[in-house]
Amino acid sequence: MAVLMVNGSPHPRGCTYTALNEVASQLKKHGIESEIIHIGTGPVAGCISCGKCGETGYCIFKDDDVNATIDKLKTAEGLVVGSPVYYAAPNGALCAFLDRLFFMKSDAYAFKPAACVVNCRRGGASAAFDRLNKYFTISRMPVVSSQYWNSTHGFTPDDVRKDLEGLQTMRTLGDNMAWLIQCIAAGKAAGIEPPMPEPWIPTHFIR
Ligand SMILES: Cc1cc2nc3c(=O)[nH]c(=O)nc-3n(C[C@H](O)[C@H](O)[C@H](O)COP(=O)(O)O)c2cc1C
Repeated sequence: MAVLMVNGSPHPRGCTYTALNEVASQLKKHGIESEIIHIGTGPVAGCISCGKCGETGYCIFKDDDVNATIDKLKTAEGLVVGSPVYYAAPNGALCAFLDRLFFMKSDAYAFKPAACVVNCRRGGASAAFDRLNKYFTISRMPVVSSQYWNSTHGFTPDDVRKDLEGLQTMRTLGDNMAWLIQCIAAGKAAGIEPPMPEPWIPTHFIR
C-alpha cells in the first residue's frame, strides 16, 4: 500500500514538507508507505484547455512532472497534496500543476482517499484548504478528514515543529487515511465494488 504526496511548495524541505512528513510518518506506523514528490521551482504551464488529455490521457506539456504524476496517481492508494498559503490560496505553480493533473479526468483517480494540507505563516489557511479540496470532490475521491482543517503554521520548519496542534492534526489525518485505505481494501476483498458512474449529462447551464 502506498500514498502519493505532492509537495507544492518551492521549498523541497520547508514547512509544507514538514507537515506532509508528519502525515507520512503516521501512515508508516500503520504499514503504509508514502512517496513525497516535489513539483520543483521551474515554470509550470497552466492548462490551455486544448482537450488533448481527454484523447491521450496525458498533458501535451512535457517540461514538468505532471505526466509522471498522472502515472503515479493511477497506481497509488491515496493522495495527499501539500501547499504553502499564498494570498489565502494554494500557490500558483501548484494550482497550474493540479489543473493539468486533474483535467484529464481519469477514472483511475476515483475512489482513492485524498486530502490536502496547507501551511501558512499567519492567515488564509482555510480558504486554501477549501480550494484544494475541490480537485478531489469533482473527481469522486473520498476526502479524508482530521480533527481540524488540515493546516500547520510557520515560516520555517522549526516553527512548524512547535505547532503541536498542527502536527497532531497531521497525525490524525494519517490515522484516518490509513483506516480508510484499509477499509477500502477489506471491502474489495469482500466483493464490494465501487459505484458505477452514470453517463455524464453536461448542461453548461443552458436550458
Ligand atoms: C507570494 C507569497 C504569498 C504569501 N501569502 C501568505 C498568506 O496569504 N498568508 C500567510 O499566512 N502566509 C503567506 N505567505 C507565507 C507562506 O505561506 C509561507 O512562507 C509558507 O507557507 C512556508 O512554507 P514552505 O516552507 O513550505 O514554503 C506568503 C508567501 C509568499 C511567498
